[in-house]
Amino acid sequence: SDNRDLNGLSVMVTAGPTTEPIDPVRYITNRSSGKMGYAVADAAARRGARVVLISGPVALNPPPGVEVINVETANEMYSAVMDRFSMVDSVIMSAAVADYKPKITANQKIKKHESTLTIELEKNPDILAQLGKMKERQVLIGFAAETEELVNNAMIKVERKNLDMLVANDVTLPGAGFGTDTNIAKLVFPSGRIVSLPKMDKLSLANHILDELVILRKGKE
Ligand code: PMT
Repeated sequence: SDNRDLNGLSVMVTAGPTTEPIDPVRYITNRSSGKMGYAVADAAARRGARVVLISGPVALNPPPGVEVINVETANEMYSAVMDRFSMVDSVIMSAAVADYKPKITANQKIKKHESTLTIELEKNPDILAQLGKMKERQVLIGFAAETEELVNNAMIKVERKNLDMLVANDVTLPGAGFGTDTNIAKLVFPSGRIVSLPKMDKLSLANHILDELVILRKGKE
């Protein structure tokens, strides 16, 4: 499309999983492919925004006209996001950040001896919750990957993380969530307004999200 309605906006998008090392050859991660976040970054750039994409490890080509910062761990994503937060007016957090990481990363490959092995995990920082505490003029949009109680859990996240909008996807539905080219989402607002969208490709969902971003930005001017 030749709609340049995001001209002059500066948008930070996160995408993909994070990987949390166990030892030099192993890590913990999740099923995020990065497709959702890359679609958001691509659509925003096409509509004229200046876009920085903070990406976990994925197998996707960078969208044209987007500045890509590659990270691996949640802590690296945290630093990359915090470094740039004051320079953007909108954040769309579609990354599937690992909630926990191994408490200790072994320096050497862990050998197999016993029949069971226990890895102790500790919490990673919640990047979006921290942004919610820091935000001034920025519009903050989060995602929520849920397997039950979609709207209830989404409303809790909107409030707890001080968001302007949350894109809630039930990742158990066929054609929604991780890895697929399509998604099924509900847009949840702090007012309690909910927009239920049908199944659509991730680029179309990205454009619905950006339509709402345009309105949310106008509300902050
Ligand atoms: O990448 P794809 O294969 O296309 O899949 C897309 C997707 C399913 C990953 C995406 O649509 C999605 O739902 N992303 C958010 C996944 C997630 O981590 O949800 P959550 O409910 O655990 O987290 C809620 C929000 O807090 C998210 O915006 C997340 O980025 C953020 N978060 C979570 C944990 C953490 N430590 N820091 C965060 O910032």
